[in-house]
Amino acid sequence: MTDTPIYFDNAATTGKKPDSVIQAVCDCLRETNANPGRSGHSLSVKAAEIIYRTREAIGELFNFPKTENIVLTKNATEALNIAIYGTLEEGDEVITTSMEHNSVMRPLTHLESRGTITLNVLWADDNCVVSPEVVRRAMTDRTKLVVITAASNVTGTKMPIEGIYAVCRDAGVKVLVDGAQGAGAVQIDLQKTPYDFLAVTGHKHLYGPQGTGALIVKDPTRLDFFMRGGTGSLSEKTTHPDFPPDRFEAGTLNTPGYAGLAAGIRFILREGLDKMLAYERNVMDYLLEKLLDIDEVEVYARNADRVAAVSFNVKGATGSEVAHYLDKEWRIYARSGLHCAPMAHRTLGTFPRGTVRFSLSYFNTEEEVDRAIEALKEFVRQRG
Ligand code: ALA
Repeated sequence: MTDTPIYFDNAATTGKKPDSVIQAVCDCLRETNANPGRSGHSLSVKAAEIIYRTREAIGELFNFPKTENIVLTKNATEALNIAIYGTLEEGDEVITTSMEHNSVMRPLTHLESRGTITLNVLWADDNCVVSPEVVRRAMTDRTKLVVITAASNVTGTKMPIEGIYAVCRDAGVKVLVDGAQGAGAVQIDLQKTPYDFLAVTGHKHLYGPQGTGALIVKDPTRLDFFMRGGTGSLSEKTTHPDFPPDRFEAGTLNTPGYAGLAAGIRFILREGLDKMLAYERNVMDYLLEKLLDIDEVEVYARNADRVAAVSFNVKGATGSEVAHYLDKEWRIYARSGLHCAPMAHRTLGTFPRGTVRFSLSYFNTEEEVDRAIEALKEFVRQRG
């Protein structure tokens, strides 16, 4: 049993947060705990400033200056739901991929089962990629939206989102990027590739707290909304404001959470995303090399261009047996099962068995990889 736990479940939520994130949440709760944009007193104005600074930080990271078009949400799922239900209408066709998470699949299959949309799910290739050319060939004159993940939460595979954006732009089709795994794990520049929608979560590679996320919208006037309530603006009216971001943000926001999210993004901007990703790539390559060295371990999408996540199985064992052993005997935390992405596992041929997933962050080290590999070898040895 190791003394220090090893957290390899950063695709579920980054385990270690920068101290500045923890500090920002505590400071907000201690010193600025008023309702933003509501009461008009100076503490409420300070809380509103935290919200504004969060939009600014998100805008800076993704090179998107129109901060009013950055809608704060509680997670990527909420952001995806706003984009999907606010865009699609009777008779629309939607293209997506077999690598999507249920946060994309479930809203889309719901609209399909209601008869509102036609859904075309494109199967990914052996490296879990869907190419821009495959997307182009699948389009019809009814295609309104392509929904695509920036990176698979199961295998870590990066999708060619810039190329897919280019074919969609040429065809006049909107693009919704699910950045739950990709935000802070791949470079996204919205001036260079102005996706119609980018949905992000705050608690993964942006290093913020859970309960934070955002939807970045190119043209909010074309996006319907379904949540109405108090906004602190136009209080004399009983109808909901139609200007962004209030149009999409009914009810009190998670100010302490967004204070933490802004600090997480500022941490990334200070360190430099390129430097952070280069570090993670090195540790990931080291992990992959060691995993591929164990005969009893099968690594999926082994040749993929990936973020710092990988799925594997140990021959003769279920994923949950491996994850349970790592947890109980070595204090190594990893996620096994289907990772809320059943079609991704059908693509890999691992449905319903699932896989074990190791997912890293900027705070993991090669020493931790060595320890995890030692643990896996010991598991294999004990299985005999
Ligand atoms: N979607 C998160 C994961 O992949 C929770 O673990």
